[in-house]
Amino acid sequence: MDGAAAVILAAGRGTRMRSSLVKVLHPVCGVPMVVWSVRAAQAAGAKTVVVVGGPDREIDGALPDDVELAVQPVADGTGGALEAALGQLGDATDVVVLAGDVPLVDAGTIAQLLEAHRAAGSAATVATMVLDDPSGYGRVVRGPDGNVERIVETKNPEDATTEQLAIAEVNTGLIVFSVSGLGDILAQISTANAQGERYLPDAIPALRAAGASVAAVEVSDPSLTIGVNDQVDLARVAEIAQQRIQRRHMEAGVRIEAPQSVVIEADVEIAADAKILAGSVLRGATVIGAGAVIGPHTVLEHSEVGTDSKVVQSHLMLAKVGAGVSVGPFAYLRPGAELADGSKAGTFVEIKNSVIGAGAKVPHLSYIGDADVGEGANLGASTITANYDGRNKHRTVVGADARTGVHTSLIAPVEVGERAVTGAGSTIAEDVPDAALGIARSRQTNVEGFADRDQSDD
Ligand code: UD1
Ligand code: MG
Repeated sequence: MDGAAAVILAAGRGTRMRSSLVKVLHPVCGVPMVVWSVRAAQAAGAKTVVVVGGPDREIDGALPDDVELAVQPVADGTGGALEAALGQLGDATDVVVLAGDVPLVDAGTIAQLLEAHRAAGSAATVATMVLDDPSGYGRVVRGPDGNVERIVETKNPEDATTEQLAIAEVNTGLIVFSVSGLGDILAQISTANAQGERYLPDAIPALRAAGASVAAVEVSDPSLTIGVNDQVDLARVAEIAQQRIQRRHMEAGVRIEAPQSVVIEADVEIAADAKILAGSVLRGATVIGAGAVIGPHTVLEHSEVGTDSKVVQSHLMLAKVGAGVSVGPFAYLRPGAELADGSKAGTFVEIKNSVIGAGAKVPHLSYIGDADVGEGANLGASTITANYDGRNKHRTVVGADARTGVHTSLIAPVEVGERAVTGAGSTIAEDVPDAALGIARSRQTNVEGFADRDQSDD
């Protein structure tokens, strides 16, 4: 894309979404809709990418660093949106215009359109698609020589004739313009239409009147250019995006069981020979190592799972799991949970902000918060850290190869030494030295013959 800039129009609120979130920030498989268009333009080789947003600069935070924001002061239509970006195109000779609400467009389609535009020497080239149901889209009116004469908007019935409504070829929103003279042409676009907006496609009749040619390139796979205007479109686009993501992983050697029950967001990384089992959801910056088995029914959010680990029916959020680790079923690993190689977090176990050392085990019914558990330690069923005194959080340290008895409460701050042992049912409020046994429970009293006592009070 040498000498070409990309402009992504994203300043419309998207009222048809009926949402407080602006349309182009709605995520598609975990990535804001507008960022899909940005990535496609960059993958096609665009060095300069300008996104047009509204004066609230709401979308600025969602954009990658190397992308510029242009501000359209008033959302007066797509014509005004492109105009707002003109000053930021550098020395580009051509500008590829993408809509921020057409997220599935790919690099190949963008590159192909630009190539056709340059080869034909057109002033503008429109990517079009032919749809069985073209409703909602602008219809492409061609002249006898194949030139695009204009695009008729159809959102309001008054804009189009019955004859025009019958046209199946529509504007995808992806258009290339030659930059030379574009400012003058855009300045001519008026609001004289049923919507009272400055329609970008109205640049086409102006170019034609000036004697320039306007070409069209039909996109063969219309699923690449579906526009998102409401929540129904969004779900449809997300479904196609999901299939695309899963196909990429499968082609790279990942096994996905029951693909329709699985959700994998766009930025998840999965090594070959990992298995993703039914009902699993992988979100955000999640990374999965080779041979790992995820699921069934596991949710991973921004979490890492190492080589050959198993995570069964569990929920992980900002957690880090090493190699050969066993998690679940029914474990909840919260932010800062780090499980070293060969360790285990078993059934009904919750861990947060804690390091579980290599080979250490937390097999059943535990809450471990703000703790450092040494290598090879074993925490008995229902070992609980009392990490919070009502005001502050305190750390618990369990030494390497220590063993806690069932129902041990560890009242932090407290330290259980290396190879130390705690008695079942102990409330450990004081440090246990290395290799010592700590027992902290009241002694048992047996009342002999209790059941045989005469209970009547005569
Ligand atoms: C637009 C096209 C239509 C095409 C369809 C493809 C126009 C007038 N119509 O219609 O021919 O078939 O896309 O999906 O261009 N935007 C701004 N500033 C504005 C208005 C819109 O930046 O003032 C942005 C929106 O955020 C959106 C994009 O432009 O990302 C398209 O706007 P939208 O209102 O969705 O246009 P459509 O009715 O879909
Ligand atoms: Mg649209």
